[in-house]
Amino acid sequence: MPKKTSAASTRKELPAGAYLSGFCNEHATEALPGALPVGRNSPQRVAYGLYAEQLSGTAFTAPRGSNRRSWLYRIRPAAVHAAFAPLANKRLVADFGTVPPTPPTRLRWDPLPMPKRSVDFVDGLVTMAGNGSAMQMTGCAIHLYAINAPMRNRFFNDADGELLIVPQQGRLRLATELGVVDVEPQEIAVIPRGVRFRVELPDGSARGYVCENFGAQFQLPDLGPIGSNGLALSRDFLTPCAAYEDIEGDFELVSKFGGGLWRAAMNHSPLDVVAWHGNYAPYKYDLRRFNAMGSVSYDHPDPSIYLVLQSRSDTPGVDNIDFAIFPPRWLVAEGTFRPPWFHRNVASEFMGLVHGLYDAKAEGFVPGGASLHNCMSAHGPDAETFEKASRTDVSKPQKVQDTMAIMFETRTVIRPTRFALESPQLQADYYKCWQGLARHFDAKRP
Ligand SMILES: [Fe+2]
Repeated sequence: MPKKTSAASTRKELPAGAYLSGFCNEHATEALPGALPVGRNSPQRVAYGLYAEQLSGTAFTAPRGSNRRSWLYRIRPAAVHAAFAPLANKRLVADFGTVPPTPPTRLRWDPLPMPKRSVDFVDGLVTMAGNGSAMQMTGCAIHLYAINAPMRNRFFNDADGELLIVPQQGRLRLATELGVVDVEPQEIAVIPRGVRFRVELPDGSARGYVCENFGAQFQLPDLGPIGSNGLALSRDFLTPCAAYEDIEGDFELVSKFGGGLWRAAMNHSPLDVVAWHGNYAPYKYDLRRFNAMGSVSYDHPDPSIYLVLQSRSDTPGVDNIDFAIFPPRWLVAEGTFRPPWFHRNVASEFMGLVHGLYDAKAEGFVPGGASLHNCMSAHGPDAETFEKASRTDVSKPQKVQDTMAIMFETRTVIRPTRFALESPQLQADYYKCWQGLARHFDAKRP
């Protein structure tokens, strides 16, 4: 593709930093006064000569509580682009029926190294694991990125799923059709299915995790007996105000569709939405604002207490994806072994570490790394953590600080890709962290 921008184009810097508050609210925002029609969505002529366009993220007939769509008022309709052609891609996997046999092995990886050549977000995404299928609209793909170049004259959209982006190192500027989302480590961003965007790197490089959700869109969990507050608070979710650029030139639109990448030429930037209203839009959330709950007596609750977002399945209570975090928090449970207990779950757990140390592992699980504990695989604290926690004075509160671990937990087995299984970052000796767990049993000593 030629990488030249027309001299005749008018470049407008996308303004950033303005957000609307609330999780998937019905927002209304305009970058030019009066751009939004009043009292109707599709007037015969839109102000400023804009085009009206609806972007639907759920079935038209989805129940009102889960129905998501936005109306976009833009310089040109999204339809103005050339035909798509395949874009070679060996790094992304979207059908997990085709990966190598999944071992029940507990797996852990060191962080991806930064690339030596110039790599942007689209080229840098690599699939580590996942389940289900993009074409079947169920399951998810879990990707990593380690990148050092902004997207230049190209834009991306993912028709296969919404993207939950978890930066681990380096900020991202996500310039989207609906506005600019600036996100840094310990924050997350969600780009809805289909929304076009460009990733810029304010720090020159970046690394992180992406959960591509093929299923139902993420929503906030019900709180049950917790009540009307707690966990991730709706008002802390921020959606960008409308912002647009008016640029003509030679651009490339990369679309992820049906598991593959496709490219089409465009003669303008698709980030030309001057105003929009609706509840289908990107958002960000600062994980440090999570209102963590825990035991104030003994034992600790199941990790579902740390749920930030869930993608529900058709079976109540059994989610396609749960996104949970393990943030800084006080541990006060008396007479209790305080790190996560030893366990085997029917669900499967892919973990990452954004910052600091994880309280179940003394070493080996470092920021940017990842671990996978699949259905019924036995895991828990390593030997060093167990011995230390067994001797800690648990009559006093203890602060777990300087940490931010994340987990994508799914109802079906998470299948590592060939890349993940053959990666030099795979720790072949991970199982050894439990081999030092000593026998303490003494039948004569109750
Ligand atoms: Fe676990």
